[in-house]
Formats: sequence, structure tokens, C-alpha cells
Amino acid sequence: MTLDFGTTLGGAWFPSPIFTASGCASSGKELSQFFPLREIGAVVTKSIMLKPRAGRPTPRMAETPSGMLNSIGLQGPGIDAFLIEDIPWLAAQGARIIVSIAGETAEEYAVLSRKLRGVFGISALEVNISCPNVENRGLVFACDPNSASEVIKSVRSIIGGDLPILAKLTPDVTNIASIASAVINSGADGLALINTVLGMVINTETMRPHLGGKTGGLSGPAIRPIAVRAIYQVREALPNVSILGMGGVATGKDALELILAGASGVSIGTASFGDPSAVIRIQRELHQLLQDKGFQSLKEAVGFAHRQE
Ligand SMILES: Cc1cc2nc3c(=O)[nH]c(=O)nc-3n(C[C@H](O)[C@H](O)[C@H](O)COP(=O)(O)O)c2cc1C
Repeated sequence: MTLDFGTTLGGAWFPSPIFTASGCASSGKELSQFFPLREIGAVVTKSIMLKPRAGRPTPRMAETPSGMLNSIGLQGPGIDAFLIEDIPWLAAQGARIIVSIAGETAEEYAVLSRKLRGVFGISALEVNISCPNVENRGLVFACDPNSASEVIKSVRSIIGGDLPILAKLTPDVTNIASIASAVINSGADGLALINTVLGMVINTETMRPHLGGKTGGLSGPAIRPIAVRAIYQVREALPNVSILGMGGVATGKDALELILAGASGVSIGTASFGDPSAVIRIQRELHQLLQDKGFQSLKEAVGFAHRQE
């Protein structure tokens, strides 16, 4: 019996449930030296903004127990260069592409959507709303249901029915299911859970914050139980909404944990920094593990941990 490894996210079909995580594989060029990008579910590109950005002050990385803290900020070339250089290159590799977008105002997300609408080769948009809203005291969009909804509505109004929209949420909220409901009611087709967790490291030599940006996003195995919890809670509240899960996945077994909690796909982030073949290895391990457990399809395993019997 061969395993049906395909999955759907917000209506888009992918042959494998394993993806890259936004910001951890840039546009995929480096990883393509280690495996053909078309063999994984899709490449999720680094969040792209309207204008080129330099990112935050250095140092931008700190090692932490079972994880890392980064304050790279949304460094990148801006949407116009991205559309000329990255999308055609990825499409030429035969890779499926999920484009992640980020902005400082709801209007910026709308402008990005207008530029992406109708571009050949894009399977879905991941809307990163874990960014500060400059029009609302710098409060992160995804920490406030109204701001989160406003962004998703503005993207949906431009994209129409052309592309599935996945809203990427932060776990730094009291009730993630309520933010998830707000963005789904505003037109998101699915969710990406979770972005990094806000953290801080103080250098005990200098006795000052280690990162130039003071705070940073915690990622890696340290946050996996937070990801599992967030996915489980959202799946319970919104059982019909597809979830792309991420957070500390380093093995096929870790990926299975997120799937059992309710994820239909899993993105690999920090693990790729230590092992550039991690994405393809995890995909192989997950495929084997699902077969060993007697599943006939990936879909049977999605949300299995919620079963009562
Ligand atoms: C260096 C770095 C850069 C990141 N950049 C982005 C980004 O541009 N957009 C985004 O939505 N998430 C970004 N993330 C978050 C990841 O996509 C992912 O949600 C998070 O790291 C948890 O997964 P992991 O533990 O497998 O890394 C970044 C994470 C890291 C470590």
C-alpha cells in the first residue's frame, strides 16, 4: 500500500506536507544545492516588504538553550526586485511557491497584494501579521483582532478568489483561537502557526541586552511545545480550517507531533541552519513514520490527537 502524502492548505494542493519556513531559506537558492526544491511541498519565501530594508542593528543572533534568538528584522530587497529575480528563478526550478508578505500598514499589504496578483507560479500567500502596526502605537497586528482583521480584509479585497491566503499568527497572545477566528472571518483560507516567541538575552559580561534590537524572536526546539499547544487549541476551535504548522521541528517525529495536533503541513525553519538537508530528511522520516504507524494517507493523521476513542 503506498501512502498518499499529498495535502491541501486553504484549498491549494501540495504533493508533500513539508515546507520551508519563511525567513529561514531566503528564496531557496542555498538549499537548492542540497536537494531539488521541487521535491518538497513548497518554498515559503522570506517575508517581502514594499521597499528594500536593511534590517535591525547587530548583533542579530544569540544562541539559547534548545533554540536561538534573532532580531534580523524584515531585511530584504523589496517586492520589485523579488518579482524580477526570485519568483522566476523558483518557478524555473519547478518549485511550488508560497510568498510571505509583511507591511507596516494595512494599505502596504494591499499594495503588495496588487503587485502579486496574477504573477505566474505562486500557489498561496502567507500573510505575516507578526509585525508592528505603525498606525497603532507599534502594536503587532496579530496581537489585536481588529488590526489583524483589517490586514486580511485588505489583502482579500485585492486578491479576490485568485490565491489562497494563510494568515501567520504570533503565539504571544492570551487567546490565539480568538485571533484565528477573527482572521478566518475576515477572509483568510488557512493559518500558519506559529511565528517566533518574543524573548531577550542579557550578556552578563557587558550587563546589557545582547541583541542590537534588544528583544528578538525565539525559535527552535525550545518553542515546539508552544507550537503544538497553539495548533491543538486552534484545531479544536476551528476544526475545518487548514493549518501550516511550524516551531522547533527537527525530525520526522517532531513533524508528526504537529500533524497529530492538527497541522496539514509543516514548515522547517531553524533546523535548516544547522543541517541544510533538514527539510528533505524530515520529509523522508515523516513519510516512513506514517507508513510504520499504518496510515494510508497523511490526511488520516491530521488532528489525530483530538480523537476521543
Ligand atoms: C532567522 C529567522 C528569520 C525569520 N524570518 C521570518 C520572516 O521573514 N517571516 C516570517 O513570517 N517568519 C520568519 N521567521 C519565523 C519562522 O518562519 C518560524 O515561524 C519560526 O522560526 C518557528 O519555526 P522554527 O522553530 O522551525 O524556526 C524567521 C525565523 C528565523 C529564525
